Amino acid sequence: MKFAIAGATGAVGDEFLAILANRGIDAGQLRLLASARSAGKKIAYRGTELTVAEMTAESFDGIDVAFFSAGGGRSREYAPHAVKSGAVVIDNSSAYRMDPDVPLVVPEVNPDDVFTHKGIIANPNCSTIIMLMAVAPIYRAFGVERIVCSTYQASSGAGRQAMLELEQQSRDLLDGNPITANVLPHQAAFNIFNHNSGIDESGYNEEERKMVNESRKILHDNGLRISATCVRVPVPRAHSESINLTLANAATPDEVRAVLDAAPGVRVVDDRENNYFPMPIDASGKDEMLVGRIRQDMSQPDGRGIELFISGDQLRKGAALNAVQIADVLAKSPIGTS
Ligand code: A2P
Repeated sequence: MKFAIAGATGAVGDEFLAILANRGIDAGQLRLLASARSAGKKIAYRGTELTVAEMTAESFDGIDVAFFSAGGGRSREYAPHAVKSGAVVIDNSSAYRMDPDVPLVVPEVNPDDVFTHKGIIANPNCSTIIMLMAVAPIYRAFGVERIVCSTYQASSGAGRQAMLELEQQSRDLLDGNPITANVLPHQAAFNIFNHNSGIDESGYNEEERKMVNESRKILHDNGLRISATCVRVPVPRAHSESINLTLANAATPDEVRAVLDAAPGVRVVDDRENNYFPMPIDASGKDEMLVGRIRQDMSQPDGRGIELFISGDQLRKGAALNAVQIADVLAKSPIGTS
């Protein structure tokens, strides 16, 4: 199989390369694409060097699977060319996620939807993936009527430059120098602010609306009640989420823990004695979602309220890894030698 990575020089591009290298995908199977700015740039890959090319309409000849992570505008412009060239596009942007002709897939949750594709498969929003990795197994076991989620999102979710800006601001503040905010809308270091996406007349930002709409599509449950609050925190990598559930059928924390223990891609980190729970520093660079703080919501009667806290690497499972796993489903076995 031949793969293209559109957005190979970005933060998610790095993760695609690391995952594919780890699976033994040969350099000759890869085509790296980015903007004209990066054309000719060399990227080290499995003991050799790959040269980045400018993405054009002709970039996809001979490509079987094209991973897109270069922003919605680029997906809208170039994904149709990739499909015309015969590639299946796995798109990490929001461009096609709510298109009824495009499946939106978390392989642990709705793998069969992959096979309804007409050339493009969408990778969900990172916060949605991280939430559903914990919520979907609970949903299947006990039913979920309502989800209230508050996120604590890392700067790298806004791209490599945002992550570098957080680092630079932290240095500048500690050195007593003035800071500049060019990538994110506010000071990121030592601060928390509303997610950097547009707010509509409802008062919800776009990230929150994505979590609502995408979760319903992935779970095939348009009646699911969800509300979210999404903020940026001064963490370079891995998003965390506080999740409050109202179940359809009562369950104890131990019953929920048992379901999560058995869930693929999830690791329960719930050590009350040592006050050790999911943290972004532990989730960074890992494939698994860390889930803990599993407890009964004391404000909900009849045992139907459950509280959870989750940390997951949004560049890996929230983006590149989920996309590679979609390619695994397409190929009906793991791509590469693993
Ligand atoms: P480049 O590095 O050449 O700008 P991030 O989300 O980390 O900011 O990464 C965005 C990715 O999308 C980068 O690889 C970036 O390439 C790529 N990209 C941005 N604009 C374009 C474009 N017009 N054509 C192709 N790739 C683009």
